[in-house]
Amino acid sequence: MKPKPDGHNDRELRVKRITNGTVIDHITAGQALNVLRILGIMDRLEEVVSVVMNVSDRKKDIVKIEGRELKPEEVDKIALISPDATINIIRDYEVVEKHRVILPSRIEGVVRCINPNCITNTDEPVKPKFVISRGERVELHCMYCGRVIADRIADFLI
Ligand code: CTP
Ligand code: ZN
Repeated sequence: MKPKPDGHNDRELRVKRITNGTVIDHITAGQALNVLRILGIMDRLEEVVSVVMNVSDRKKDIVKIEGRELKPEEVDKIALISPDATINIIRDYEVVEKHRVILPSRIEGVVRCINPNCITNTDEPVKPKFVISRGERVELHCMYCGRVIADRIADFLI
């Protein structure tokens, strides 16, 4: 079957283009629902959202939100769970802005430590801080106890 210019073919049911809003593309496969969590979609049930999972041979997920542009802190959290994602701003059907999320080298106060005995999980007023490294996956290294969070980062977002 001859692919169409945008990579789709006739067998696929395409999620339609949006008029105005944001398309989060190239989400790490399997992370779309965590992206929805970060965006608080369940608290904003009036929004029109489409989710496409396992696009292009299960390599990526896509989330489209009509009528909303994301806050920088939302984009920063998406970077942690999906470092190759792109944020596309759509106006009048056109992509007017496209940028890749940026994975910082350190974060503070965004993720809590996995170690229940870490000082950041006690009553001490110490904010959790992590150094971030990226090989095959993103790893967060706690600057206080040294524990590493790599899987299920979304579960530790504050
Ligand atoms: N998109 C959309 N509605 C629009 C315009 C674009 O849903 N009105 C979606 C496209 O389906 C795509 C993403 O936004 O998933 C980015 O669009 P575009 O830049 O046109 O696609 P590509 O060139 O394939 O993007 P990239 O090179 O970043 O993979
Ligand atoms: Zn720790």
